[in-house]
Amino acid sequence: MIKKLTALILMAMMLLSLSACGSSADQKENGSAEDITTAAQQESAEAETEETQAASDTGESGILVVYFSRTGEQFTVGVIEEGNTAIVAKMIAEKTGADLFEVLPADDYYPMTYEELTEVALHEQDENARPEYAGDVPDLSKYNTIFIGAPVWWGDWPMIMYTFFEKNADALAGKTLIPFSTHEGSGLAGFDRKLASACPDSSVKDGYAVRGSDAQNNRESTSSSVNDWLSMLGY
Ligand SMILES: Cc1cc2nc3c(=O)[nH]c(=O)nc-3n(C[C@H](O)[C@H](O)[C@H](O)COP(=O)(O)O)c2cc1C
Repeated sequence: MIKKLTALILMAMMLLSLSACGSSADQKENGSAEDITTAAQQESAEAETEETQAASDTGESGILVVYFSRTGEQFTVGVIEEGNTAIVAKMIAEKTGADLFEVLPADDYYPMTYEELTEVALHEQDENARPEYAGDVPDLSKYNTIFIGAPVWWGDWPMIMYTFFEKNADALAGKTLIPFSTHEGSGLAGFDRKLASACPDSSVKDGYAVRGSDAQNNRESTSSSVNDWLSMLGY
C-alpha cells in the first residue's frame, strides 16, 4: 500500500514537473497496458541486441556506449518497443562510431507495466540491491572513452548500474566516462557525481540529460541536440 502510494507520488511529481517545465514532446499515448510487449517479443529483441553487440564489438573507435533501458509501458509515452535511453545510446553510437553494450538483467523480473515497475525499482533502491546483469562485458581495455546512460529511477541510477560500476571499476580506471540520462523532469539527477564516487579512478565528464518522451516522440530534434552536445565534446 505504501509503495503504491509512493509510486503515485512519483507519478504526480513528474506530472507537475512536466507542466512546470513544459515539453516539446508530443505526449500522446502510444498504446495501452493491454498492448504490452509479449515475453516472446522481448526475447527476440534481446537476441537481436546480442547479435548487434557481437557484430559491433570491435573497439576500433576506442569508444563504447554502455546503457540500460526498458521497453513496455513507460511514463507519458505509453507502451514502447524501443526504450528511450536505447534510442539516445544509438544516436551517440551513430555519431561517434562507438560500439554498444546493453546492460540486460540476468533475471528479468522487471514488470512491463509502469506502476509495478516503479514499485520494484523502489524496493531495489530501499534494499541497496545489486541486481546481476547478463552476459559478458566487452573487453574494456579496447576503449578510452565510455558513455554510460540509463533512465533516472527514483532520482538515481537504476541499481543494476551500480552493479556494473562496481564490478568493472578496476577496468574503468583511467578512462573517460561520460554519463547521460533520460528522465521526465529530474534531469541528470546527479548521475555524474554518483558515477564519480562509484568509479573514483576514472575521469567523469559533465553529462547530458534528455527527456525520455522527446527521445521517443521527437527523434529529429533529439538527434540534433545530442549531436550538438557531441560536437561540443569534440566528436
Ligand atoms: C521506476 C521508475 C522510476 C522513475 N523515476 C523517475 C524520476 O525519479 N525522475 C524522473 O524524471 N523520471 C523518472 N522516471 C521516468 C524515466 O526516467 C523515463 O521515462 C525514462 O526515459 C525511461 O527510459 P527507458 O525507456 O530507457 O527505460 C522513472 C521511471 C521509472 C520506470
